[in-house]
Amino acid sequence: MNYENAVEARDFINSRAGKKIGIALVLGSGLGGFAEELDEKVVIPYEEIPHFALSTVQGHAGQLVVGDIDGVTVAVQQGRFHYYEGYDIKQVIFPMRVFGLLGVKNAILTNAAGSVLTSFKQGRLMLIRDHINLMGVSTLRGENDERFGPRFPDLTNVYDVGLQEIAVQEAHKLAKQRVKDGLDKKRAPILRRGVYCALAGPNYETPAEVRLIRMLGATAVGMSTVPEAIAARHQGIKVLGISCITNLAAGITNQVIDHNEVMETGERVGEKFKALLRRIIRRIGNKKQK
Ligand code: HPA
Repeated sequence: MNYENAVEARDFINSRAGKKIGIALVLGSGLGGFAEELDEKVVIPYEEIPHFALSTVQGHAGQLVVGDIDGVTVAVQQGRFHYYEGYDIKQVIFPMRVFGLLGVKNAILTNAAGSVLTSFKQGRLMLIRDHINLMGVSTLRGENDERFGPRFPDLTNVYDVGLQEIAVQEAHKLAKQRVKDGLDKKRAPILRRGVYCALAGPNYETPAEVRLIRMLGATAVGMSTVPEAIAARHQGIKVLGISCITNLAAGITNQVIDHNEVMETGERVGEKFKALLRRIIRRIGNKKQK
């Protein structure tokens, strides 16, 4: 997966979509429905894009959808590549490489995650303020191509502070709006900031591992996002990360974890999540035009 491969994929996407794309959006487990909301959709199955892998996970569609949200053009990765699927890490981050070459300046990464805190229940959304990489692999291992970014990129601010601020403001406005519209009885906080810890998976964690992860200062645990976030920063793309808390992590309650439950919670929270994403995209798009 080298620079030339990414150029080929970029040219192919440009030939199909032919639009300047400002924002890339990666949709996590159970969250793929947002792609349906795009106007003037161009749908490109991964198997048609040169050098893209295929998504093997149930609940991940495996296609790139380019279209507009309230006039802002986005490229949506409906289904991502996970390290646990057996791909080389370079394959996992390949779409981000291509987004960079397409001129994307902002990436919104979403995922399903398990909370390691009893106080942070399923169905809530977490704004990722930082991450801990326990995947056992670095995205950037191997030869570095300076055309993507530097050999030793700084990760002090992986998750862009300005984008976080936009997300927090829009979450407040959405909470207010939901009360007005009669969807919620009282104003409920929609987003809580936290630290995302990534493990390779595909098995969920043991209770002992979850206790360790909590001690390390994480708020939630998952199996994705970190590779793409690092690749994006490496390329100078701003990153916003949002987790949907689909379950309490292993051992936090007596309940065992089930992928179907993860998917169902993702879908249940879908409406709120989609409304928030729409607002954030609109704000990022408008800021750019100013
Ligand atoms: N652990 C890891 N990944 C996950 C979880 C979890 O509890 N829930 C959703 N993705």
